[in-house]
Amino acid sequence: METVVVLTGAGISAESGCNTFRDNNGLWRNHRVEEVASPYAWQHTPQLVMDFYNERRKKLFTAQPNAGHYALVKLELKYRVAIITQNVDDLHERAGSSHVLHLHGELKKARSTVDPTLIYELNRWELKLGDLCEKGSQLRPHIVWFGEPVPMIEQAIETAKQADYFMVIGTSMVVYPAASLIHYIKKGIPTYYVDPNATSKAGNPLHIIKEKAGVGVPRLVEQMLNQ
Ligand code: OAD
Repeated sequence: METVVVLTGAGISAESGCNTFRDNNGLWRNHRVEEVASPYAWQHTPQLVMDFYNERRKKLFTAQPNAGHYALVKLELKYRVAIITQNVDDLHERAGSSHVLHLHGELKKARSTVDPTLIYELNRWELKLGDLCEKGSQLRPHIVWFGEPVPMIEQAIETAKQADYFMVIGTSMVVYPAASLIHYIKKGIPTYYVDPNATSKAGNPLHIIKEKAGVGVPRLVEQMLNQ
């Protein structure tokens, strides 16, 4: 079975009602990154950080996967599909994808601030100051903040190297190390970029599909299933 490796970003979840970061009305237009998504912010204004992620988590509990997520599940009929997502939502999993690696953490999880191996599923939207891990320390969102290492990147690089096809969906490709994954794929493999604002950013044969994920991904998947 051939392997399709898919790198997704906020754009694939946009049609599910989750905000992107850098579009008009994106999250980083309305919030300064360092005020809500950095170790500095957590140290100085933890309530602001909690509020930011609580609001997004609350939305996520009512959001549903869209046609783009479901099409990637269908692709598993013919290919081994490995998804590397920059998204912290769980819409790929809820759609039914089998292999999903989260580069930037997961919104529905909380982590101990003294022991990073203590990670808890959150079955409620609100995480509060005062919610403690079993060792008695404050829980924080299980999110990779700016300035923090990206622990899953090594595994993502190994996955990217296995690709026979590479797809990039709904990401501005400006955040590293995620954007560097394209440099690890084998030379010459077919590479697709589905994004209304896609531009040529890769050396490999690059097929640009300037569509929303809900339209472009199902179409591409049909094409790949029929080839
Ligand atoms: P961005 O907001 O930077 O980019 C979103 C991309 O989605 C843009 O290229 C849009 O053109 C595209 N887009 C918008 N609507 C779409 C749709 N319906 N279908 C397909 N594409 C659509 O988001 P990311 O690239 O995901 O990190 O950002 C990467 C990282 O930056 C995030 O994981 C986050 C952020 O800071 C952390 O928080 C650590």
